[in-house]
Amino acid sequence: MRNHKISLKEIVSYAKKYGFIFPTSEIYDGINAIYDYGPYGIHLKNNIKEYWWRSMIQINENIIGLDTSILMHPKIWKASGHAERFKEIFLYNKSKNYSYRLDFLLEKIFKPNSKGDNYLCKKLCKIKTKKNNLKKRIIQYIADNIVLKKYKKILVLVKKFQDKWNYIYEYKLMFQIDFKKQTIYLRPETAQGIFTNFLNVQNSSKLKIPFGIAQIGKVFRNEIMARQFIFRMREFEQMEMQFFIHHKDEDKWFKYWKNKRLIWHLTIGLGEKKYRYFEHEQLAHYAKQAYDIQFNFPFGFKELEGIHSRRNFDLKKHEKYSKKKLRVFDKENQRYYIPYIIETSVGIDRIFLAILSSSLKMEVLKQKTKRTVLKINPSLAPVKAAIFPLIQDKRLIAYAKYIFNSLKTSFLLTYEENDSIGKRYRRQDAIGTPICVTIDFKTLKDKCVTIRYRDSMLQKRVLIKNLKKEIKQETSINKLLTKFLMLESTK
Ligand code: GAP
Repeated sequence: MRNHKISLKEIVSYAKKYGFIFPTSEIYDGINAIYDYGPYGIHLKNNIKEYWWRSMIQINENIIGLDTSILMHPKIWKASGHAERFKEIFLYNKSKNYSYRLDFLLEKIFKPNSKGDNYLCKKLCKIKTKKNNLKKRIIQYIADNIVLKKYKKILVLVKKFQDKWNYIYEYKLMFQIDFKKQTIYLRPETAQGIFTNFLNVQNSSKLKIPFGIAQIGKVFRNEIMARQFIFRMREFEQMEMQFFIHHKDEDKWFKYWKNKRLIWHLTIGLGEKKYRYFEHEQLAHYAKQAYDIQFNFPFGFKELEGIHSRRNFDLKKHEKYSKKKLRVFDKENQRYYIPYIIETSVGIDRIFLAILSSSLKMEVLKQKTKRTVLKINPSLAPVKAAIFPLIQDKRLIAYAKYIFNSLKTSFLLTYEENDSIGKRYRRQDAIGTPICVTIDFKTLKDKCVTIRYRDSMLQKRVLIKNLKKEIKQETSINKLLTKFLMLESTK
């Protein structure tokens, strides 16, 4: 059996052909970097969410769920700093009529072996050979001031190299809408809904520090450099958990969640080598410590999940802007304090892309036949089992339908009777169905069916009365949760 490396282009075309992801509004030529999830994509996405949700809420007594609104009071974004600081800096190249995002540029410049073909990067690199000191100063300036926003000074320096390319501008990342004559925003992170509800949750649940609040929801960012399929989108979904702690425990909980989140990803089974940690030097305006878990996507290692220590930045700001106390009582010291927060934040769409890009295989089998197979973790597979009558015979069809109906309340199944059995297997392989169940003439006598496994293509006979147990054992999300708990206790 041979495999070839799958390119991003192949993944995009596979995702459309097999009903996982479609470009949005396609009949009107689409909108860049916004996608719709198709009939199989939605099940995979829901299974990822279910696994995350249960691994946060169900197996941790001190983590609780929430679902807050997308539209919130505009003051929230003033308090959080997003209204002022959630922007990207761009350098515009007049002659090419093209803008370069500064942080992408810096990423390339600071990578010693980067073969970036970015025009501006080359320009800056050339400056190094000619006027080394000045180039160093520019880069240092950019690096130092990207957070402090002294762009004008950078601009003055860059202008000294006046070519055709350089002026700097800022680009706001939050989408704005008009609401009763005021501007409100589509949320760019789910976190703020958690912070602003933190006391409601605590008062109603009576949880004591340390405790967590988890949320899954849509967020929106006006990404100017949206690209790489569903990796960087303008509308996407986040799964965030904010863990409220006493400040003296910051390091302990930061390490705990950094470790635990990597273990969670490893349970999906894409291979340990595909992941690595990346420590941030340039921190977001709210963060004091930050690590990314990066994944090796078809275009290299990129951020999959962020683990941040937001300390009391957000709650402090919300106290100031709302003039409401957001504190918990410290019994030991008999005083109220604002808790620190450790955040875990991951985009579902990026997990989806990680899974698709690592699990999609184009295999050449023994007789030079080919198959497209999605070797996805069975617990996350969109369809758990396919039920087939061997041929279109009345008795086999009736039996197959009976089995389908008796199992359909337990699993998402599919039933197929058209085409040869081989073609039906191939279709199910391509969408990642872990088990195919065939009803043949022997079934009528021995009450057994043939089970065929997607990855090994091995077959075995199973009694119909054991079928439910067999499918459950192979495909339930509980299996992933058990693996997670096991790995967690050993790492
Ligand atoms: N609350 C913190 C926060 O939002 P972030 O690093 O900006 O932090 C968290 O985003 C996660 O959201 C990222 O690690 C990534 O998985 C996902 N994400 C961010 N921007 C995205 C985009 N434009 N498209 C898809 N996913 C994105």
